[in-house]
Amino acid sequence: MKNIKDLSPKQINQHVKIGTKLPLATSLHYPSRGQTAIQELYLTKIGKLFLKKTSKRNHQDCQVNEKNGSLAEREYWCFCLARYIGLNTPPLWLIDKNTTIQIWFNIPDAHIYTSSHGKMFFLAENIYNCALFDWLTGQIDRHNANYLYDYINKKIILIDSAHSLLKHTGSLPDYLEKFELINDSDFSKKQQTIVSKKLLSLSKNKLEQLIPLKDLSEKKALLWRHNQIKQINTIKDIIELYRRNK
Ligand SMILES: Nc1ncnc2c1ncn2[C@@H]1O[C@H](COP(=O)(O)OP(=O)(O)O)[C@@H](O)[C@H]1O
Ligand SMILES: [Mg+2]
Repeated sequence: MKNIKDLSPKQINQHVKIGTKLPLATSLHYPSRGQTAIQELYLTKIGKLFLKKTSKRNHQDCQVNEKNGSLAEREYWCFCLARYIGLNTPPLWLIDKNTTIQIWFNIPDAHIYTSSHGKMFFLAENIYNCALFDWLTGQIDRHNANYLYDYINKKIILIDSAHSLLKHTGSLPDYLEKFELINDSDFSKKQQTIVSKKLLSLSKNKLEQLIPLKDLSEKKALLWRHNQIKQINTIKDIIELYRRNK
């Protein structure tokens, strides 16, 4: 059988169509702060798949001009970048301009984990990778229900990267605020990871191919943010970068 990651959007959509819809509201994994107009979880032959469909209202609320890239497209472009640099995020398909389907991971988001289970532990490398990614994509919605917590490996996994790639800089992600409070030796320690090397070596052309923004000011902002990470070596540097550009 074909690897699930190699399935086309059409094939994934077909699995959803013949899948069984799970009652999200009564499920243990009921979305903590779901804003997207339609959210459906399906049990399929290839595992649980999560469908999201955004509305005009969603775009208005997020002040995103759909013509320059819908929320679903932005989430998909972010996924393409994550996949290219080797950052683990749920495999995601763009079904149409406003619909995505992604693999549902059987782990809680950070909001659910901290409210019902316990304390999160972080790994500096993983935090560094996510923070570079969120900075580059200008993410402005990284609250604690927009990342999952893999409590076995003590890693966070970014989800819902839709609210991003706009012409301004992003906002300080929730996990960075939490990491700063710990402020141990890892905070100012020089980091160099496979993901950070891959991010730094991205050419302008490759970046534009992965993230085909239409609006010139959004394109310029992306390239500017990419340029900024060339000066970054530590988690502390990233936090300072956010604060300087507030
Ligand atoms: N791939 C996934 N695996 C597991 N849980 C997920 C996944 N994607 C979303 N969730 C859960 O569903 C919630 C809502 O999904 P999200 O993508 O954040 O939608 P919205 O755009 O509506 O905020 C998340 O806060 C999280 O709890
Ligand atoms: Mg969300």
